[in-house]
This record gives sequence, C-alpha cells and structure tokens, in this order.
Amino acid sequence: MRIAVIPGDGIGVDTTAEAMKVVRAAAAAYGRRIELETLPWSADHYLKTGVAVPPNGYAMLREFDAIFIGALGDPRVADNRHARDILLGTRFELDLYVNYRPVKLLDARLCPLKDRSAADVNFVVFRENTEGLYVGVGGRFKAGTDDEVAIQEELNTYKGVHRIVKHAFEFAKANGRRRVCMADKSNAMTDGHALWLRVFKSLAAQYPTVEARHLYIDALALLMVQNPAQFDVIVTNNLFGDIITDLGAALQGGLGLAASGNLHPGRTSMFEPVHGSAPPLAGKNVANPVGAMLSAALMLDYLGWDAEAAAMETAVRDAVVSGSGTPDIGGSLGTRETGDYIAARVQKNLP
Ligand code: IPM
Ligand code: MN
Repeated sequence: MRIAVIPGDGIGVDTTAEAMKVVRAAAAAYGRRIELETLPWSADHYLKTGVAVPPNGYAMLREFDAIFIGALGDPRVADNRHARDILLGTRFELDLYVNYRPVKLLDARLCPLKDRSAADVNFVVFRENTEGLYVGVGGRFKAGTDDEVAIQEELNTYKGVHRIVKHAFEFAKANGRRRVCMADKSNAMTDGHALWLRVFKSLAAQYPTVEARHLYIDALALLMVQNPAQFDVIVTNNLFGDIITDLGAALQGGLGLAASGNLHPGRTSMFEPVHGSAPPLAGKNVANPVGAMLSAALMLDYLGWDAEAAAMETAVRDAVVSGSGTPDIGGSLGTRETGDYIAARVQKNLP
C-alpha cells in the first residue's frame, strides 16, 4: 500500500504524526507493508513557493492507494487559498462525492448531554461532498463599496443528489442500519431542495426494509441534541453536512475525536480528521490525535485491512475509556505520549 500523507498546517502536523505512528504499528503487528509518502503541501510551502498544489498534483494523488490530510488553515493566508486548493480541490478533482463522518460516542463521560450512554450516540452522516454551496459559482459586483452585491450559488444536480442518497441507503442495507434520514430545507429552498426530496422519495421506495424519514435541517439539529439515539444514517448536502458534523463531533466529546473519509467508492479516496489546524496549539504537544487516528482506521478499513482497522479502533477506545489521552478528554498525556500509548496498545490487541 502506498499512502500520500499531507500533514498540512498547525496541529495537523502534530496529530498526523501520531496517526501514522499507529498505522505503522498496526501494519507491523500484522506483518503488512505500507509506504507513507509525505507531501509538503501546506501554508508554509505555499508562502515559500507560491504553489499550493503542483500542476500535476491531483493526477499524482490518484496514483496512491489512499490520501491522508491533517488539517489546513493558517492566518498568514487570509483567503485560505491553499486550503481550498488542497482540501476542496482534492474533493472535487478526485470526485470524492461521499463525505463519511461517523458520530460514535466512545465513552459516556465525554457526552455533553445529560444521562446518555455510548449506545445513544452512534450514527453516521453522509455529507454530499462535490456540489452545493461549495462549488465556487458566484461573484461580487462593486466589491468593497456600499453597493456591493455578493452572489454564491448552490449547485444541485440529479446525478449528484442521487449518488449520495443512494450511497446512504446502500450503506444502511449493508451494515444493518434500520433508518435513513434525509435533511434539507425544501420548505424555504423550494427549487434546489425539491430535487433532494424527489430523489429521496423515489430511492426510499426502492429500499422497503429501510425506514426512510425526511426532516428539515433545523429540526434535525434540534433532534440531534434532544435525542440522538433515534438516528442511524443521516444524508444531507455539503454545507448542512459541514455544520451538523461539528454538532456531531460535540456529541462525541469534541472536535478532537471526530473522523472522516472522503470517498469515491472503488477509487483513491482521502481521509482527514474533522478538526481544524488550531494555530495557537501547533507544536505544543496538546492536540488530541484520536480523530486523526480514527480517520486513519477508516482508511485502512477502506483499503480492506479490516483487522488492522479494528485493532486501531479498539486501541483508541481503550485509551479514551481509561483516560489515557489529552487534557481535552480529561487525560494528562501529550499528543506524542497518547500516540505511544495507543501504538503499544495496538500490538497488545493482536488476536
Ligand atoms: C471540514 C472543514 C472544511 C469544510 C473547511 C476547512 C473548508 O470545515 O472539512 O468540515 O467546510 O468542508
Ligand atoms: Mn467543517
């Protein structure tokens, strides 16, 4: 296996190092070969060279078996240009239309809601990842004046909506999840989201064993907090998915714990923690590497290394439950020490 590793900016560098430490430990434990090739794409690199992604960059990425990205964002790049090219560019150019974000509470004590057990918070979000408000269609007229007009269009295509909603139903069927909920804002966005509703209803009819439910996104946000146990699979558009997966991360115990995969099933896909680059914490050995590790476990699972992925997840859960983690989850370990602990634990969890 050949993996492209883009540690990126800020704490992305810190957490990626620990995630890759654990990946190496899992590969070694199972006698597997894995090549981790680091690409320097980051704000630093962009500021030094003026290049965010080299001209053949996306083609190069397609040659790997998978891609891992740490986090992107740096106050020195005010318009976030490099992050758009590296992260959103990879999503669009590799057509990674499924943003898969599991929301799984590992330890009841980390849930900000009262009296919830780990079983109450266990669902997955499928966020459409190639369309919606992220496509950069729009423009500004008379920018910087009091007459400024700013337009940002939301793109919804039948093909784009159909493939992500279908993916959600297929996932539910294949993984014994009983319910699929589609969330939109079709009561206000009566054109774009009418398409979502039509596609959802027609696909729901094709999966009679899966319970299909439609919610407006505002109601979904309310219900995710009031009673998250009612959700199995949630599917929604790009921006709504972005927002509710931060909410989902909070239910799990914070951004440091949340994982994601950006997938085009059957093709080279990309994995990244949900957390940002947190510039003030960079290099301080305090960032929680668990979200990055769980993202790397999703990557191994996607590549067919089920046992290695499961060993990583179990090791992470053991660490979190036993309090062997960073201060944000009540531990007293640093980023690196958490990595050492979990890497050692992976070896212990061998079958
Ligand atoms: C995420 C992030 C990105 C997004 C940003 C960095 C552009 O918030 O992956 O959730 O909005 O998709
Ligand atoms: Mn986000």
